[in-house]
Amino acid sequence: MSKIEEKQPYGYVDLDLIDTTGAAPDEEPARQHFFMAKCRQFVQERELETGRKQTCFLQTFGCQMNAKDSEKLRGILYEIGYSPAESEEADLVLYNTCTVRENANLKVYGHLGYLSSLKKKNPQMIIGLCGCMMQETDVVEKLKKSYRFVNLIFGTHNIYKFAELLYAVLEGQIKAEQMQPSPLKTNMVIDIWKDTDKVVENLPADRTYSFKCGVNIMYGCNNFCTYCIVPYVRGRERSRRPEEILREIRQLSEDGVIEVMLLGQNVNSYGKTLDEPVSFAQLLQMVEQVPGIERIRFMTSHPKDLSDELIAVMKQSKKICRHLHLPLQSGSSRILKKMNRRYTKEQYLALAAKLRREIPDISLTTDIIVGFPGETEEDFQETLDVVRQVRYDSAFTFLYSRRTGTPAAAMEDQVPDDVAKERFNRLLSLVQGISQEMSKRVEGQTLPVLVESGNDHDPSLVTGRLSNNLLVHFPGTEELIGQIVDVRLTECKGFYYMGTLPAAGEETF
Ligand code: SAH
Ligand code: SF4
Ligand code: F3S
Repeated sequence: MSKIEEKQPYGYVDLDLIDTTGAAPDEEPARQHFFMAKCRQFVQERELETGRKQTCFLQTFGCQMNAKDSEKLRGILYEIGYSPAESEEADLVLYNTCTVRENANLKVYGHLGYLSSLKKKNPQMIIGLCGCMMQETDVVEKLKKSYRFVNLIFGTHNIYKFAELLYAVLEGQIKAEQMQPSPLKTNMVIDIWKDTDKVVENLPADRTYSFKCGVNIMYGCNNFCTYCIVPYVRGRERSRRPEEILREIRQLSEDGVIEVMLLGQNVNSYGKTLDEPVSFAQLLQMVEQVPGIERIRFMTSHPKDLSDELIAVMKQSKKICRHLHLPLQSGSSRILKKMNRRYTKEQYLALAAKLRREIPDISLTTDIIVGFPGETEEDFQETLDVVRQVRYDSAFTFLYSRRTGTPAAAMEDQVPDDVAKERFNRLLSLVQGISQEMSKRVEGQTLPVLVESGNDHDPSLVTGRLSNNLLVHFPGTEELIGQIVDVRLTECKGFYYMGTLPAAGEETF
């Protein structure tokens, strides 16, 4: 038995109780706790040397998965003793990168130029890169060759090892400083794994909000849509065991969380690979039982795997939010086939109609790609047709980006940029017009709003979300943050609402 007792919140241990004199233990998470304690000693020494706090800055690019990973990385950084900095002028800068589209990568290279100028002023500064972009071999080769000032590179499969890797960098810095004359040459620590089936539990996380939190239920993706890099950089699909998920959610609830967002690239295939398979709908029912959890969201649903069981569970639930993100990608069955999406236009339309019929107040949102290789004007018209029929509450529209390493990048009939852009603009204006009309649906009603923040533009207002995910601004004080209150939706402003708290005694419906 370890003498280290776990304390609340989830994943925290008392680092001061860890004996760091011997060798690191082999088992996880004890090994990482050991390295966190080692890093903490280093940070404390450096603070004594410099007479000031050691600071860190973590920037997240990309999707909810990365945002969640960043909470874990931040949890480790704060446990180690770093204080948050407002900008990149910090002792440690970490970028958690995304590579889903070409311009995501370009953005990171742009930022690196700026970091190199900061490092000239502060040679002890530690620069780290992690996340999806680091899973690409050519990216790491380029960094090794032309960005030698980067200290630490790791990928998506071993973020739990952050403390161990950071310690290797810090140790390298100490050794370099002891050499005379001190060269302070960057020792680049690189650790990229191709894939993993490992899920390490019980590490700290720093939550962005006190009242809502994302919870990983699965990692990776097995779908291999032909345009998409995610399966290559996030590895094969693996589900967390329901006991672990529920344990985390119970602890979050005890810690004040009332809304959870269950995260996975394709939540509808949750649990299929577990020793004792559990369906996503069953998991949702278990989460519903956790006392204190009032709202449950999830992201993302692949249309091919959305079951009737899930629709039935959502329909009867008071806690599962009235929002489903159901990526369409294209409305043309021919293009869907080339994308390897494994549903047709007709199947998708039937599913959307069933959802609208069974759960009339549901908000349907989607992702659409314009300009996939071989897309003709007729294919594009099919996409517009689906948008008109489904009437999305909102939609993310993307210009197809040719990701090296994906099958679609090698397809011959790439659509010229100007053609794709012109289609994109037509799609955007259709989507926006419908979205404004759909948003108006609940005008005049009084509905529960989870208050999320104050309002930057007007301090007399607070901002929250409806169950269907629409934003509402209304007069209120910041004491309401984290509470669910009934708000009368007085005016729809396109994509958000202005509202008021109903007067005491006023009837709500
Ligand atoms: N797992 C989720 C989405 C992950 S990526 C799902 O299956 O829905 C988020 C969105 O980025 C995708 O839905 C897709 O619309 C978009 N996307 C992915 N690869 C792209 C590419 N090469 N070009 C343009 N958009 C892309
Ligand atoms: Fe990418 Fe398709 Fe997997 Fe979503 S389901 S992450 S689009 S491969
Ligand atoms: Fe980007 Fe990785 Fe998410 S590539 S979209 S951050 S899974």
